[in-house]
Amino acid sequence: MEYKPVSELQRILACLPEAITDAFNQGQPANYIPALAEVDPKRFGMAVSTVDGEDFTAGDAREMFSIQSISKVFSLSLAISHMGEELFQRVGVEPSGTSFNSLSQLEYENGIPRNPFINAGAIVVADALLEYVSSPKQDFLSFVRGLSDNIDIHYDESVFRSEFDNGQRNTALANYLKSFGNLKNHVSRVLDFYFYQCSLSMSCLDLARAFRFLAQDGRHPFRNESVVSRLQARRINSLMMTCGTYDEAGEFAFHVGLPCKSGVGGGIVAIIPGKMSICVWSPELGAKGNSLPGMRALEYFVKQSGHSVF
Ligand code: DON
Repeated sequence: MEYKPVSELQRILACLPEAITDAFNQGQPANYIPALAEVDPKRFGMAVSTVDGEDFTAGDAREMFSIQSISKVFSLSLAISHMGEELFQRVGVEPSGTSFNSLSQLEYENGIPRNPFINAGAIVVADALLEYVSSPKQDFLSFVRGLSDNIDIHYDESVFRSEFDNGQRNTALANYLKSFGNLKNHVSRVLDFYFYQCSLSMSCLDLARAFRFLAQDGRHPFRNESVVSRLQARRINSLMMTCGTYDEAGEFAFHVGLPCKSGVGGGIVAIIPGKMSICVWSPELGAKGNSLPGMRALEYFVKQSGHSVF
């Protein structure tokens, strides 16, 4: 299939909400973090940011929402930039095939999480990062603000609190990791940092811009510097493809065919290496914790634009 010219991207985005109407009313916003259940489930936004620096938007693309597990790509990138391959002695690179907060798999695999995108893996990454950053929360926020070129990005205190008060499963995972010797810091310190990362609020436009470094060989979207090396960017994209949407990664690879990372706030980020990054947001989730309208929108976008990694 021929690639459409870039000006076509805006046209595709404009048609999108109409084209996927049947994907709504099929799922539910996340409710295990009560603050997330308060969001209007019918919201829909999408943004594309190209490696040439052009941005295209549709619907609620400038609305802030809770990034949740999309933050796991930021923390992984920051950790890899500090410690490189050493990180993978403590966390694997295999798809989990189980839910993002599975406890049984962690026991079975002796405290080495399958990959950095399931909760246990991201908790290990948070623990590893604590060794390298002097003011963890501020440094993490500055990293994300720099990638998005937006100093108005903040964490959402109510989401943070809500997750802290209802985070028994993550607390269990962290304690379990500690019992296997795979957490160096105190459980409460690691969880405080992990919940903080998940509670950042960003828009589709912020996220599309921020993720552009993965579409351009690790180069920072707005500064003349590298966020990660070219090889590291390739590895992060590979992990997003195989593990970024948990036990639905096969479905995503089949229908969308791009490296993707989802969050239970309803956001999904996708990368087209060498071309653009995309973020879609809509809060109704399917059984595996991924946005149903979001997945459908990415599938439509890929079909219409002709872009694919395959
Ligand atoms: O730790 C949690 O359960 C949430 N803060 C993040 C989970 C999440 O976003 C999974 N993504 N689809």
